[in-house]
Amino acid sequence: MKAIATAGWGPKTKLVLSEMPAPFSLGDEDVLVEVHAASVNPKDWKLNYHLAMAATPLGTRRLPPLFGDDLAGVVVDKGTRVQGLDVGDEVYGMDMRLRTASLAEQAVINQQRVAKKPKSLSFTEAASLPLAALTALQGLRKGGAEQGKTVLIIGASGGVGSLAVQIAKYLGMQVTGVCSTRNLEFVKQLGADAVIDYTQGDYRKSAGAFDIVYDVTSYETPLTCKVLLGENGHFISTGGQGLSMVATPLYRLLGKKANSVVVESYREDLGYLTELVELGALHPVIDSVYSLVDSDAAYARNRSGRCRGKVVIEIRS
Ligand SMILES: NC(=O)c1ccc[n+]([C@@H]2O[C@H](COP(=O)([O-])OP(=O)(O)OC[C@H]3O[C@@H](n4cnc5c(N)ncnc54)[C@H](OP(=O)(O)O)[C@@H]3O)[C@@H](O)[C@H]2O)c1
Repeated sequence: MKAIATAGWGPKTKLVLSEMPAPFSLGDEDVLVEVHAASVNPKDWKLNYHLAMAATPLGTRRLPPLFGDDLAGVVVDKGTRVQGLDVGDEVYGMDMRLRTASLAEQAVINQQRVAKKPKSLSFTEAASLPLAALTALQGLRKGGAEQGKTVLIIGASGGVGSLAVQIAKYLGMQVTGVCSTRNLEFVKQLGADAVIDYTQGDYRKSAGAFDIVYDVTSYETPLTCKVLLGENGHFISTGGQGLSMVATPLYRLLGKKANSVVVESYREDLGYLTELVELGALHPVIDSVYSLVDSDAAYARNRSGRCRGKVVIEIRS
């Protein structure tokens, strides 16, 4: 099968299209998916960049084809204990465990991490959802999201943020999105009640206080956002980088309301997202679409940090 493998080492690691055997051992609880589309997440290149840095010219130069968590495709085989999914089902899901590399023509995924895809979505649209939408949903839940509460979403135009805005609105929250000038109208169209332009000075001084501050950029910490939190305000971070990785858990240890999201894939949550899509409450937001052979360019686009929604890679058209 065709799959993406890494070549080179260190920061110069390249993603190359390779021909490789499909070495899948299908566990009892796994399904084998013919992958139609996958999407790109910052975690892929962050993690692989570190792995690549760890490789030396004397060590392994060829890292495993670890790329890709999100997938949408068709079940072509299943383990003996798989329930509720059959060969021929159109599915979507994600698995952060490294054995599922979705930038390949076929991928194995545990049955708990995959669900039937929303019928109204193409494979390309469905592949854009799992990791980002689960992060949006699970982060909002951790913050105690509920009708009538106010939430500030910092990074409202990106892969996670654009979905968090829509889910928070569906939950009946008052949503304020933080984004740059070029994305103000876009974030309003996603449903935000108010938008704040982070390029126009330090908005934290005047934005007011919120029940939940969901920092999707993971640039902020509970301390930098202190003034944005109401009396019982809850700080949530995607915690993918920088000081927030340390500051959020520390703040929590001090008994404050602060959490980092560690996204997990559950069939029930994917099912919930499917319901939201079918209700018309959640729409995929796609920044750009690449073919498998152009995976390197797709990752470069994601690494730019300027994506409006998700980057998707089509594997079968
Ligand atoms: N812990 C977990 O389980 C988990 C799961 C998913 C993601 N993450 C992490 O969450 C972060 C976001 O992921 P993502 O997929 O949403 O990333 P993304 O799509 O690459 O985010 C890009 C967006 O961020 C906006 N942005 C950049 N700087 C900003 C700032 N200072 N203030 C407000 N918005 C800003 C950009 O808008 P402009 O171009 O307008 O600036 C762009 O729309 C990453 O660090 C990722 O690793 C963690």
